[in-house]
Amino acid sequence: MHNGSSDLTALIQPGRVHRRVYIDPEIFELEMERIFGRAWLFAGHTSQVPKPGDYITIELARQPVIMIRHSDNSIKLLFNRCSHRGARVAPLRSASAPRLVCCYHGWTYDSDGTLLNVPVPEGCAATFDKRQFGLSPLPRMGIYRGFVFTSLGQTGISFEDHIGPMKSSIDDLVDRAPDGELALDAGRHRYVFEGNWKLQVENVLDSYHVPFSHASTVNDKGVQFARREGDKAGAAVVDADKNRTAAPWKQRRSYVSGNGHGWTSNTLLDDGKRSSPAFDEYRRVLAQKIGAERARQILTPRLHNSLIYPNMSIMGLNIHVRVINPVAVDRTEVTIFPVRLVGAPAAMNFGNIRLLNVTHSAASFVQTDDLESFVRVQSGLRSQGGDWVDISRGLGEEEPDRELNATRELATHEMVVRAQYRAWLDYMRGTA
Ligand code: FES
Ligand SMILES: [Fe+2]
Repeated sequence: MHNGSSDLTALIQPGRVHRRVYIDPEIFELEMERIFGRAWLFAGHTSQVPKPGDYITIELARQPVIMIRHSDNSIKLLFNRCSHRGARVAPLRSASAPRLVCCYHGWTYDSDGTLLNVPVPEGCAATFDKRQFGLSPLPRMGIYRGFVFTSLGQTGISFEDHIGPMKSSIDDLVDRAPDGELALDAGRHRYVFEGNWKLQVENVLDSYHVPFSHASTVNDKGVQFARREGDKAGAAVVDADKNRTAAPWKQRRSYVSGNGHGWTSNTLLDDGKRSSPAFDEYRRVLAQKIGAERARQILTPRLHNSLIYPNMSIMGLNIHVRVINPVAVDRTEVTIFPVRLVGAPAAMNFGNIRLLNVTHSAASFVQTDDLESFVRVQSGLRSQGGDWVDISRGLGEEEPDRELNATRELATHEMVVRAQYRAWLDYMRGTA
């Protein structure tokens, strides 16, 4: 058995983790119970359900969940499970319905889960009380600037303590919208890979792999293609002469702030020259709304990627929100939501979405490189060629960043992964 604390602790050592954390189905079951069953998880964004009756359906810790907007405009999170005999009542990924009607025997629920109607009520037992048979709400919910999180645990760290250090990553994105809000209403990319969920989580802040995994997207000057509207070129990733990691890339920093969260600093780009008809118009609209100085601050890139552990990330370059959904120990679903900046010119938002098709769709140039690596890691770890996965780069070189209230290190090091495993162990031992 692996569920004793000492057993789990033995799997996570300074600078290395045991391969069992990626391949053992019993560990995966424990993760579903102790991490995904307790931690704050990203559920969705309020813009996905703009009007009363709009809902989306998702899976959290392998359980079907409905996020719906109630008639009083509040957001509700309900288990997608009929109180009669258990059928999923909301069948579609996204739809609009003022009432949820179960397909099996027609029990009808209000958008806050209240049971409104039971067909053939004279058949109900004399003691039957409709009020006892609403759809169950999820235990806890927290919303920050439209980002909806939930915890399947009744107790544990408060939402404020969980999200606090990552608010600035959310602000960084939302503040870019001239109207101060985002819309995740431009479709989604969704794919499943044959690998453990943590492979994707670890990769989000991994700057070490970029010059190698994504070498095919780098030109003969060592520069990746432009990934933002208005850029003429992308980041210098590889030193063209020497065919190795470019000096500016090596200077990037990564940061951790507890709870497994982290972020990487911006990618060095020539921001002074960022210009296109769509981008220039966007800059003008933003400055008009909030003033030129504030607009300049907002448009100076600060963040590349942010990870809100354990299941979502925000990318600040070609902007999107990524959600990581573990399906099995060796199977993970990833959803990429393009982000529309409300109030920005349509051409600007369209440009961002188009670039995301190139980098993060299932058939893109960048994300597919990573998926190939994840699948190769998962199959490699089945071998008896070694029990340990090395995450020791930069071990002992972490330093405090008092201004940001975080710990930082070079982004080509592996501090962020070690921080994720500290949080992993806290959740798994019940000390989070
Ligand atoms: S299972 Fe839903 S009405 Fe019977
Ligand atoms: Fe990558």
